[in-house]
Amino acid sequence: MILLGLNIDHCATLRQARYRQANATAGGAIEPDPVTLALLAEQAGADGITVHLREDRRHIQERDVWRLRESIATRLNLEMSCTPAMTRLALQLRPESVCLVPENRAEVTTEGGLDVIAHRRRVTKCVDAMNAAGIATSLFIGPEPAQIQLAAELGAPWVELHTGAYAHAYFNRHRARQFARLRDGAARAHGLGLTVNAGHGINYVNIAELRTLPHLHELNIGHGIISRALFTGIGEAVREMKARMNVCSSE
Ligand code: PXP
Repeated sequence: MILLGLNIDHCATLRQARYRQANATAGGAIEPDPVTLALLAEQAGADGITVHLREDRRHIQERDVWRLRESIATRLNLEMSCTPAMTRLALQLRPESVCLVPENRAEVTTEGGLDVIAHRRRVTKCVDAMNAAGIATSLFIGPEPAQIQLAAELGAPWVELHTGAYAHAYFNRHRARQFARLRDGAARAHGLGLTVNAGHGINYVNIAELRTLPHLHELNIGHGIISRALFTGIGEAVREMKARMNVCSSE
């Protein structure tokens, strides 16, 4: 069964649109609360909760991640940039996993993922610190052979393949080529002993093909599910995505 990591950043985006100046993250008039959303999503079958604590704090706030750490019953996956400050925070917070992501243009590869080749030293430091603390590291990378190879060499147990280019090409002639890149990347990563996750731009339409990628362990999905939840509620949005992710196993 493919697992669902629900990215709840956009719930916080909505809250910050109105309550950017508030000094609390929930309570009183401050809504919507991402922690409440996470708990409801877990009840509906989400296998983990993902948040990106950005350095600019544009959506998720530090207080949110501590509240999540105390409240959720599944797994906390902290997306973060590869900096000493975020590494220190992760070691205090102790999420089940961290996913290292780029936050500025210079860190991004052609496929949009973290350029682990260009930032090898920083990535290595962070992966080593997480491995020593028993926190699984995932590297959010494009499906490029050299990036995958180095991810394995650096000792990160997981990769998250960036599906954004595929999602972007879904309705044009580049889709098959982008899918083939992901398929080859997933096979390569699996062959090197990496756990294969994927994420970015996954929705209720492209999941039909994306779920056929080989060796998929977990998909991290945010915008599609949070958007659907506006109409159906988060429980239904999670249940429907999980059903579409695992059509064969539920038949
Ligand atoms: N995976 C990673 C590493 C991300 O940074 C994000 C958010 O951009 C997602 C998955 C979820 O992407 P989306 O919101 O497009 O589903």
